[in-house]
Amino acid sequence: MPFVVTENCINCKHTYCADVCPVDSFHEGPNFLVINPDECIDCAICVPACIVGAIVEERDVPREQRPFIQLNAELSAAWPRLPKGKPPPPDAEEWDGVLHKRRLLER
Ligand code: SF4
Ligand code: F3S
Repeated sequence: MPFVVTENCINCKHTYCADVCPVDSFHEGPNFLVINPDECIDCAICVPACIVGAIVEERDVPREQRPFIQLNAELSAAWPRLPKGKPPPPDAEEWDGVLHKRRLLER
């Protein structure tokens, strides 16, 4: 079952996850990363790499975060692949744990 990037990545976007993924299944948008569910090999290596805990296996995604399952599938088809990490936004740490960031998702 694939892994899913959930809401806490928005505006944090540390990209450590993209550095460790063995199959380069992360795709990058303006302020969020997503996983292509058809490419993810369910290795779980990216879970501890994300310092804000944004990556969850699909079956464990909390109910209020379930829309992110579809968002990962939809946006990974539209956004370019990010095969390597890059510097996060300068204010990334300030956004860790901020609630209701979904409205800030840029496409
Ligand atoms: Fe990549 Fe593995 Fe994370 Fe899937 S679980 S996105 S294959 S690092
Ligand atoms: Fe986002 Fe965490 Fe990756 S903040 S970019 S899922 S390391």
